[in-house]
Amino acid sequence: MRFVSFKAARLGMDWEGGMRESTRVVRSTLTPVVAGTSMSAGPVFAAPFHAPGDPAGLAYSYGRAHNPTWTELERVLGVMESGVLADGGAYDAQAVVFASGMAAVTAVFGAVLRPGDVVVVPANSYYTARNLLGGYFTEMGVVVRTVPRMGVNALEQVTPLLEGARLLWIESPSNPTMDVCDIAALSAAARAAGVLVAVDNTTPTALGQRPLALGADFSIASDTKSLSGQGDILLGHVAVRDAELLTKLMQWRNLTGGILGPMEAWLALRSIPTLPLRLEKTCANALAIAEFLAGRSEVAQVLYPGLKTHPGHTIAARQMTYFGAVVSFELKSQVAAEAFLAKAELLTEATSFGGVTTTAERRAKWGGDAVAGGLIRMSAGCEAVEDLIADMAQALNSLPQALDGLR
Ligand SMILES: Cc1ncc(COP(=O)(O)O)c(C=O)c1O
Repeated sequence: MRFVSFKAARLGMDWEGGMRESTRVVRSTLTPVVAGTSMSAGPVFAAPFHAPGDPAGLAYSYGRAHNPTWTELERVLGVMESGVLADGGAYDAQAVVFASGMAAVTAVFGAVLRPGDVVVVPANSYYTARNLLGGYFTEMGVVVRTVPRMGVNALEQVTPLLEGARLLWIESPSNPTMDVCDIAALSAAARAAGVLVAVDNTTPTALGQRPLALGADFSIASDTKSLSGQGDILLGHVAVRDAELLTKLMQWRNLTGGILGPMEAWLALRSIPTLPLRLEKTCANALAIAEFLAGRSEVAQVLYPGLKTHPGHTIAARQMTYFGAVVSFELKSQVAAEAFLAKAELLTEATSFGGVTTTAERRAKWGGDAVAGGLIRMSAGCEAVEDLIADMAQALNSLPQALDGLR
């Protein structure tokens, strides 16, 4: 797949012929060519910066408001989030980094929602975001209109709820049920109704799906997941096309002050050039595993948008370049899921997803999602897929014996 390289100049390239996305990303963290300087920017640790005299026009004055390592990460994220709208107009995205995915989510809510405002939210979106809206923001006078389960029929469900709303929240594919909705169609309906659109783009990353190009106003991600991919840091970002929204997000970050450390920003930057490689491998592994699971009688259903049988596959194939590393699947009972996870040696039991090592968990154990007791959310890592499948096969094969009389 080829992308327009309208940011080539900023990347230090002197040609505009069009680079493949992976090339853009791999080369995005390089510093400008200055002989004898480092090829990538290191972390800058600073609370105050030198600020003699009039501070107006200073690039950096105090570390809660700005930091050169954030600037670098935000530039690179901006490259990834930039694209071309349906009408052919190219846009430059601006990103703002936060201390976690939830800090990024909160910044969008905080920047746009005021008492009396209405927000339309899917019941199958990330549960901590829903809890934040249903708890604090509702108590502060924000009205939440909940869509039961947003998927391929989202447009019919959402359209009647947009009247008088301020914000539409979308998560596609949704965590953990992997529902897919048509972001472009929903964004067009919201725009017609004067409603802002925010997409939680955590599972695919900006490399797998570009919400701003599909018409959304905010692209949000927990970069704790696939973007950083090592499972050792938390961070998040919000990307926008609009300068006014950018200012509001930056104000929110400075006023609330729960900022990303320069070390974490740098570690994320360090992970980005391997993102194309990691996505290529983890998504291929996820698809192979989903296909394997779909053929097993112990598995009641497999939820992966890369499968042609997934109800959202056509939409996903249209709006995504990678289907993501997360595969959810349902065994026939909680006991079966627990026995399977105990038996599987290569599915490290842990929450989160998007890392280089394969992880899995029985999702209902956290209590936040309305999912069956046997639902397992698995995140495919970068191991050899043959080993992962062999391990899952032996774990499934062990089930009838382990669960004699229970199913
Ligand atoms: C879809 C989604 N959005 C947001 C978040 C919050 O991210 P973080 O844990 O980095 O705060 C998560 C975390 O699991 C998530 O899965």
